[in-house]
Amino acid sequence: MIGKRVVNVGIDLGTSRSVIACDNGVRTYLPSIVGYPKDAVSKKMFGRDIVFGDDALKHRMSLEIHRPFDKGMLKIAQDLDENSQEYKTAIEAARSLLKRLIEIALEAEPGGTGANVLVRGVLGAPALASRKNKKAMLEIARGILDDVMYVSEPFAVAYGLGLLTNAFIVDIGAGTVDLCRMHGTMPTDEDQITTMKAGDYVDQIFFELLSKKYPDANFTVNMVKRFKEENSSISHHGDSVFIELPVKGKPVRHDVTSELRAACKAIVPDIVEGIRKLIASFDPEFQVHLKENVILAGGGSQIVGLKKEIEDFMRDTLGYGKVSRVEEPLYAGANGALMLCRDMPDEYWHELKTKVVK
Ligand SMILES: Nc1ncnc2c1ncn2[C@@H]1O[C@H](COP(=O)(O)OP(=O)(O)OP(=O)(O)O)[C@@H](O)[C@H]1O
Ligand SMILES: [Mg+2]
Repeated sequence: MIGKRVVNVGIDLGTSRSVIACDNGVRTYLPSIVGYPKDAVSKKMFGRDIVFGDDALKHRMSLEIHRPFDKGMLKIAQDLDENSQEYKTAIEAARSLLKRLIEIALEAEPGGTGANVLVRGVLGAPALASRKNKKAMLEIARGILDDVMYVSEPFAVAYGLGLLTNAFIVDIGAGTVDLCRMHGTMPTDEDQITTMKAGDYVDQIFFELLSKKYPDANFTVNMVKRFKEENSSISHHGDSVFIELPVKGKPVRHDVTSELRAACKAIVPDIVEGIRKLIASFDPEFQVHLKENVILAGGGSQIVGLKKEIEDFMRDTLGYGKVSRVEEPLYAGANGALMLCRDMPDEYWHELKTKVVK
């Protein structure tokens, strides 16, 4: 280890995309999808054993597709059967994904291989992760990161923004919304709530509403998700939105204005209830500071009109609320994890290592 250069990395292994930010300047992401060629023909076509991210999505017909963090698998408190094939496959897919991200990061090192480099990483995990989930995350990083530490995802966001006190983070991802109040110390379980109604839930509702309204149209959840990302809104002032969907093979324009709005709105009740709970149970003298500084992060924070919707709700139930959005919703978690990684003193990492080994 002596003489090795340390590369710090912040990693946000997300349900939908996995993001890495490194202090050697690399910052990138991959959709959290891993594809294995289905047979010898597809293996020859790809020229490799594993296909990642957008490539995997594009060629999904000839690949066996795995989304290791889908539906909270590996991430959210649930009864994991560590001997099941499903668990083993998810771990393997997650490891491949992390390994690929680290490879990309190390390509920027002199020589392009990362030889003589020590990779130190901070990994974000949802607040709801159980001991078993944390063990799973540890297993994912084993042999890929030399040193690793876990923090809750919204805490990483807060740290990156320098908001260690008087702030309330709402990280709206694909699988979970993570809420966390910051009051100058490391947040504990009481400071955090995770809800499962996030971006994937919006896609599901949007898909169901469209299936009901346009039974003759032909489409997939993936198609409506992409459309959502370009048009998401809960504002009542926007233009009507139309999607082209095939009917008996022919593209037809469909009005989806109210369905898209309803789907985007579906995540709001749980978010605002979470905000209310965490604020109402806080020291009354300091509640006002939290209300003043609610920060939205994550891909779902880009829904047009969401900020105002939450402010309106807070005004009704809590008397006041000021909501803003981070500048880089998709990178906020990884950026914060990287800063934390850099700021941790060497002794801390050493101590951690002895703890992990135990
Ligand atoms: N413009 C947009 N409007 C609404 N939703 C969006 C937009 N862009 C991305 N999203 C949604 O944001 C989600 C992805 O956000 P993010 O990358 O923060 O999630 P994640 O970290 O992968 O998930 P999680 O934190 O739950 O594990 C997806 O559901 C995606 O469809
Ligand atoms: Mg996330």
